[in-house]
Amino acid sequence: MQPRFDWALEPLADMSPTEFHDWQTLLEERSGMVVSERRRSFLQTNLSARMREVGAPDYASYYRQVTSGPRGAVEWSTLMDRLTVQETRFFRHPASFELLDGYLRQRVEQGALERPLALWSVGCASGEETFSLAMATAEVLAGCDLNGGFGVTGTDISLSALAKSRAGIYGARKLEQVETPLRERYFLPLPDARFQIIPDLAARVCFARLNVLELANSPVSGMDVIFCQNLLIYFRRWRRREILNRLADCLVPGGLLVIGVGEVVGWQHPELLPVANDQVLAFTRKSL
Ligand SMILES: C[S@@+](CC[C@H](N)C(=O)[O-])C[C@H]1O[C@@H](n2cnc3c(N)ncnc32)[C@H](O)[C@@H]1O
Repeated sequence: MQPRFDWALEPLADMSPTEFHDWQTLLEERSGMVVSERRRSFLQTNLSARMREVGAPDYASYYRQVTSGPRGAVEWSTLMDRLTVQETRFFRHPASFELLDGYLRQRVEQGALERPLALWSVGCASGEETFSLAMATAEVLAGCDLNGGFGVTGTDISLSALAKSRAGIYGARKLEQVETPLRERYFLPLPDARFQIIPDLAARVCFARLNVLELANSPVSGMDVIFCQNLLIYFRRWRRREILNRLADCLVPGGLLVIGVGEVVGWQHPELLPVANDQVLAFTRKSL
């Protein structure tokens, strides 16, 4: 007897141009992410994998599934976990962290820290950037009277990325970018050879789901430092500028905004001054 192949084990057919267009539009409207023709196979592979899991027979019926009702919203959230690029590292782009160190030291010297510092990692993925901000700030504030006065928020659209962030557990390879003194101060070895962020540092950090397309409705404000690196590259230019305008509004006077180098060109904001540094793309908000 011929073996019976389940349809789910067979490769899914190529997307039609209309289907590809519908998915492109949906993704861009909801997440800002632009899926170019070059990334069609990435989209198709990831959609197919998820469709097999949920038993959706074709792209059109899966599209209907993710766009209808509360169950669709849950499925959309799972799909986002699969389609977003969550690559990240501790102290990614070291020049940005050198700039942060200098900025924080200057604020301390000026005595301009009358309240706890608030820092924000926008598009935090699995938390490495958020904890890097926390370590960098803890280092500067250690030993001065203001020791301890800071909090860091990491936000992302992906719930699975946020779950990893909240766990604060990383493999040894991940820690290679962390200098030994910091590794010893801020990580605890676990029996399974991984490392966990120490509770004192973890207590300074919180994570929340936030879609950057919805910044207008978010309660975030009063930030001293905002890092938004390696997120805007997936968006159209006009959208990058719109998001940056919103982030600028979340900064306190004198606050620092750090963006991935080359992620925006020619953007200006009436309240922001560019930081003179040819290795980092950063701005400070004018003081009152
Ligand atoms: C490549 S990672 C960058 C991580 C980190 N900022 C860094 O520079 O290493 C991009 C992150 O942005 C998140 N992301 C994508 N679209 C988003 C959106 N519309 N709102 C919030 N986060 C988003 C992804 O889930 C992913 O975790």
